[in-house]
Amino acid sequence: MENVNVKPATGKLGVLCVGLGAVTSTFIVGTLMARKGLAKPVGSLSQLATMRVGKGKDKQYKKITEVVPLTDLNDVVFGAWDIFADNAYESAIHAEVLKEKDINPVKDELEAIKPMPAVFDQNFVKRLHGTHVKPEASRWDLTEQVREDIRNFKAANNCERVVVIWAASTEVYLPLSDEHMTLASFEKAMKEDNKELIAPSMCYAYAAVAEGCPFIMGAPNLCVDTPAMWELSKKTSTPIAGKDFKTGQTLMKTVLAPMLKTRMLGLDGWFSTNILGNRDGEVLDDPDSFKTKEVSKLSVIETILDGEEHPELYGNIFHKVRINYYPPRNDNKEGWDNLDIFGWMGYPMQIKVDFLCRDSILAAPLLLDLVLFSDLAKRAGRYGIQDWLSFYLKSPMHDFEHKPVHDLFQQFTILKNNLREMGGYEADECVD
Ligand SMILES: NC(=O)c1ccc[n+]([C@@H]2O[C@H](COP(=O)([O-])OP(=O)(O)OC[C@H]3O[C@@H](n4cnc5c(N)ncnc54)[C@H](O)[C@@H]3O)[C@@H](O)[C@H]2O)c1
Repeated sequence: MENVNVKPATGKLGVLCVGLGAVTSTFIVGTLMARKGLAKPVGSLSQLATMRVGKGKDKQYKKITEVVPLTDLNDVVFGAWDIFADNAYESAIHAEVLKEKDINPVKDELEAIKPMPAVFDQNFVKRLHGTHVKPEASRWDLTEQVREDIRNFKAANNCERVVVIWAASTEVYLPLSDEHMTLASFEKAMKEDNKELIAPSMCYAYAAVAEGCPFIMGAPNLCVDTPAMWELSKKTSTPIAGKDFKTGQTLMKTVLAPMLKTRMLGLDGWFSTNILGNRDGEVLDDPDSFKTKEVSKLSVIETILDGEEHPELYGNIFHKVRINYYPPRNDNKEGWDNLDIFGWMGYPMQIKVDFLCRDSILAAPLLLDLVLFSDLAKRAGRYGIQDWLSFYLKSPMHDFEHKPVHDLFQQFTILKNNLREMGGYEADECVD
């Protein structure tokens, strides 16, 4: 074993969630139920997976919690911000993801989680009308208020560390501008209260990173994915990760596309559509919010199936993604994929996928792992973009010099190797 310097996971870890909607409430309920032994954290690698460490005669399989020092679930304290005042219990009931019988055993703890007033601007989420928001102030002042929220929460709950995770609504599409390119120009724009280019999500991200709290971006918004924020994360030695939780359709894509590539099968087109009826679906029904999601979803196939490397197989792919708001389904999304592929001598074939999934059920374990692993990264002295967490993300952040890795199995190898390194083992490429 190598000598590594990872600080132990002592004391309480505050987990501050931006947005206390379907995903967050499902994540919190499941974590509280799991630590009482009343539910299983299915889908969470940090809680369930074993992995190999060492090679040859030194080979051993260990639980991830035995490889690296992770915060115990009993030491997690939850807090949130939301534009509605519903507490975590009311939010979980309202979301209708979980049955009351699975929520009620932790009702008291949930009722105690009351969201702090949010930073909100209607222009960034057109379909929602928030009532529980901070009074009108400049972007800089709002960020200062969020910093104060974080400090107050930390002190009130006796937390040693805090992680902030965004699971709030998807904001409208915002392209990268000059103001986002350096920390100085970004801070100037905040102080000048540039409401067009500084999204509310950026206020949370800036506040978290300035306070040295890892920040994870679960939606596709630009938010922390700017050179200015990369700079701040280095300055304050803070890990950042994003964007957009990889749950249903994109998870399938990042499994199926590598299969086509491995077998050198061709692809003419990939049409993905889905119906969902929760509040997320309602927000994404707005074309500007959908555009943010679309950009995030589209990047996947082109990166795995490289048309320049294999023009005869992937040089002309038609890729289309649709999201349809359909209230009767609520959180129970149905996603259809149609793949027009071709094989030997160009003969066409089709693959159809019909995934009847539950959005928040797939997302919740990702939040848990991302929170615990980001906290680990901070204790290991890592900072900046945590690309080893791409395994969990639809549109992995990367700087201008690097390309993202989308293939789920490559991402898994990278994840395990980083855990090996932080656990004091050697990274390797061996097949488990
Ligand atoms: N569930 C999935 O599979 C999945 C996958 C990838 C990404 N996401 C993203 O996660 C996010 C949450 O999804 P959800 O299903 O919980 O949605 P949701 O609508 O149930 O919850 C979002 C919450 O964020 C709140 N909110 C909006 N703007 C806010 C702000 N500025 N500050 C604080 N709170 C704010 C809303 O009031 C709402 O309660 C969405 O952006 C969604 O696109 C979800």
